[in-house]
Amino acid sequence: MAGNIKVVVCKDADEVARKCAGMFVEQVRNKPTSVLGFATGSTPEKSYAQIAKLAKAEKVSFAKVTSFNLDEYWGLDGDHDQSYRYFMNEQLFKHIDIRPWNTNVLNGKARFPEIECRAYEEKIVSVGGVDLWVLGIGNNGHIAFNEPGSPVDSRTRLVSLTQSTIDANSDGRFFKVAAEVPRCALSTGIGTIRDARKLVLLATGAKKADAIAKAVDGAFTPDVPASLLQDHPDCTFILDQEAASKLKK
Ligand code: F6R
Repeated sequence: MAGNIKVVVCKDADEVARKCAGMFVEQVRNKPTSVLGFATGSTPEKSYAQIAKLAKAEKVSFAKVTSFNLDEYWGLDGDHDQSYRYFMNEQLFKHIDIRPWNTNVLNGKARFPEIECRAYEEKIVSVGGVDLWVLGIGNNGHIAFNEPGSPVDSRTRLVSLTQSTIDANSDGRFFKVAAEVPRCALSTGIGTIRDARKLVLLATGAKKADAIAKAVDGAFTPDVPASLLQDHPDCTFILDQEAASKLKK
């Protein structure tokens, strides 16, 4: 295995979600003022449901937590049902006691994207950096909307989506047709993500197996953005058996 990435293989997506939720609730129990990083997409949905369930069962309060999301579609405002702000409100924030004003999602309608992105970076620094950030992975190895070729030191910025990402997000789970998918997004950079003290990347299903194998066992290369996590000091991939099926034994 290349690099430091720790790999945990679970029997199925439900176990992935339970493990991820366990890490988040533990983090907040140990440090109630934690700064958490969240992702959107299908993969973390079960984990968010589990976080809400576990936080309630174990009486762990998120009232002092601050959160940052990875990315937002450019051109969608937070009320749009495909915006990532809307997703987070529906999937997680309304089910836990996190304070809405402590949740940060990039503004897809910002008038000046460069100012929005710089302010986001500054805000992460001003609260002391992210303690634990959960990531997904694209079929092409992207993390956040850092598509192949994104530099290891990239920061929050306006990016273009690749055709592969547009196709993946218009398969009916989110958008119905490719024409509806915004072509650009505001995305934290690989450098922004690598600054988090702890990272956990979730992947489930056979479609992710190639990207996971390249990220864990392949070269450290911007061609596979998730491989740029190989030298992170505390990065764990939590996978189901299908996503792990092409890893070297
Ligand atoms: C979403 C994000 C993306 C997704 C990735 C996988 O905030 O940053 O990188 O994590 O596209 O998406 P799903 O989980 O839908 O396969």
